[in-house]
Amino acid sequence: MKLSRGLYLHIPFCSIKCFYCDFTAFSGQKKTISRYLAALDQEASFFPEFNPETLYIGGGTPSELSAEELKTLFKIIHARFPLANFKEATFEANPESLDADKIKILKESGINRLSLGLQTLDDHLLKLIGRQHSSKDFFDVFSNVKEAGGFSVSVDLMYGLPGQNLETHLQTLKRVLDLSPDHISLYGLQVEDWTLFSKREVKIDENLAREMFERSIEMLKEAGFIHYEISNFARRGAESLHNKIYWGNGEYLGLGCGAASHLNGVRSTNEDRLIPYCVKVESGQISASSSEKLKGVERLGEMAFLGLRMIKGYVPPEESLRVFDAQWNSLISRGLIERRGDVFRLTKEGVFVANQVFMEFVPPFDGIELRSPSEALL
Ligand SMILES: C[S@@+](CC[C@H](N)C(=O)[O-])C[C@H]1O[C@@H](n2cnc3c(N)ncnc32)[C@H](O)[C@@H]1O
Ligand code: SF4
Repeated sequence: MKLSRGLYLHIPFCSIKCFYCDFTAFSGQKKTISRYLAALDQEASFFPEFNPETLYIGGGTPSELSAEELKTLFKIIHARFPLANFKEATFEANPESLDADKIKILKESGINRLSLGLQTLDDHLLKLIGRQHSSKDFFDVFSNVKEAGGFSVSVDLMYGLPGQNLETHLQTLKRVLDLSPDHISLYGLQVEDWTLFSKREVKIDENLAREMFERSIEMLKEAGFIHYEISNFARRGAESLHNKIYWGNGEYLGLGCGAASHLNGVRSTNEDRLIPYCVKVESGQISASSSEKLKGVERLGEMAFLGLRMIKGYVPPEESLRVFDAQWNSLISRGLIERRGDVFRLTKEGVFVANQVFMEFVPPFDGIELRSPSEALL
């Protein structure tokens, strides 16, 4: 199913900040939640015409909201988007804060997909990366979710973590697969600026990380999962429809602090400081702090690196083949991209060095003037 309009709501509250995370997420700010929800409501009122097909409530940690706060959140969504017919409605949750009460509210409110943040089942490692839950919390939540029924369940895992070895990682993956989730997101650690990991100068063992990724792909495929996006694996029919809108260059409205939107060809990002976001919305301003309409070569480049994220590949328009002729040829000759008819896709090697491939399509482009005459055609 290919959909084209998604709604994203960002809930930027976490119990504490994990040591690797640079997402827009704040700890110790629970007192701001009701003000924040009112701001979300007001921001949603700026877009009365938007008629989304998917919903994604992400964070931060949406399950940090209390049962009452969750009810308020869903009242807002249903009142502001009365015509929405969500084919998929995802809610991100952490094991330490999703109880049976909240699961019931989510189900009654139309959530049909849960994304559970686990990272690893190694309890010692969970502490070392700043997580607030144990492996037992995860198993308890998973069984509560299964007992409630009605959710497609995804689990987030990480590899390449300091102190993680191949055996413990593969053991985690095997134990998670034994639970038969519908979807797994598997992220290689990125050491981001301003995180505790960056301050501690954590170094990734790239060879080990690659082995973890390679072996995980094999194990997931053997278990019947389809590797459909660089970091995402699903049982047939359980791919994330919302995220496929992002990768397919579709339209999405992002509400909340730091949320990103892509509407009418314009990409924008909201103010990412919590109180300034609330103040901006309360004063009647749309909260975008940056926006740009990508044109010409930049737009073609963006379409290429988003499309190539999909493992089945991407059909570049003629203009892309012409403008990026040197890039496509060089990637093919380096064995990072393969061409089958009109479809260009990452090779097995290309998947492991995808960021390197994508850099070819991000300005400044080798040998291409940014404002080339080809823009006139677009
Ligand atoms: C931003 S979190 C939001 C959901 C939820 N709070 C959680 O912790 O799972 C989504 C996922 O991003 C991944 N992630 C966050 N920071 C990362 C990093 N620096 N490197 C790789 N993956 C990361 C983790 O797997 C995490 O589960
Ligand atoms: S990984 Fe999730 S729980 Fe941890 S700080 Fe980031 S958003 Fe919060």
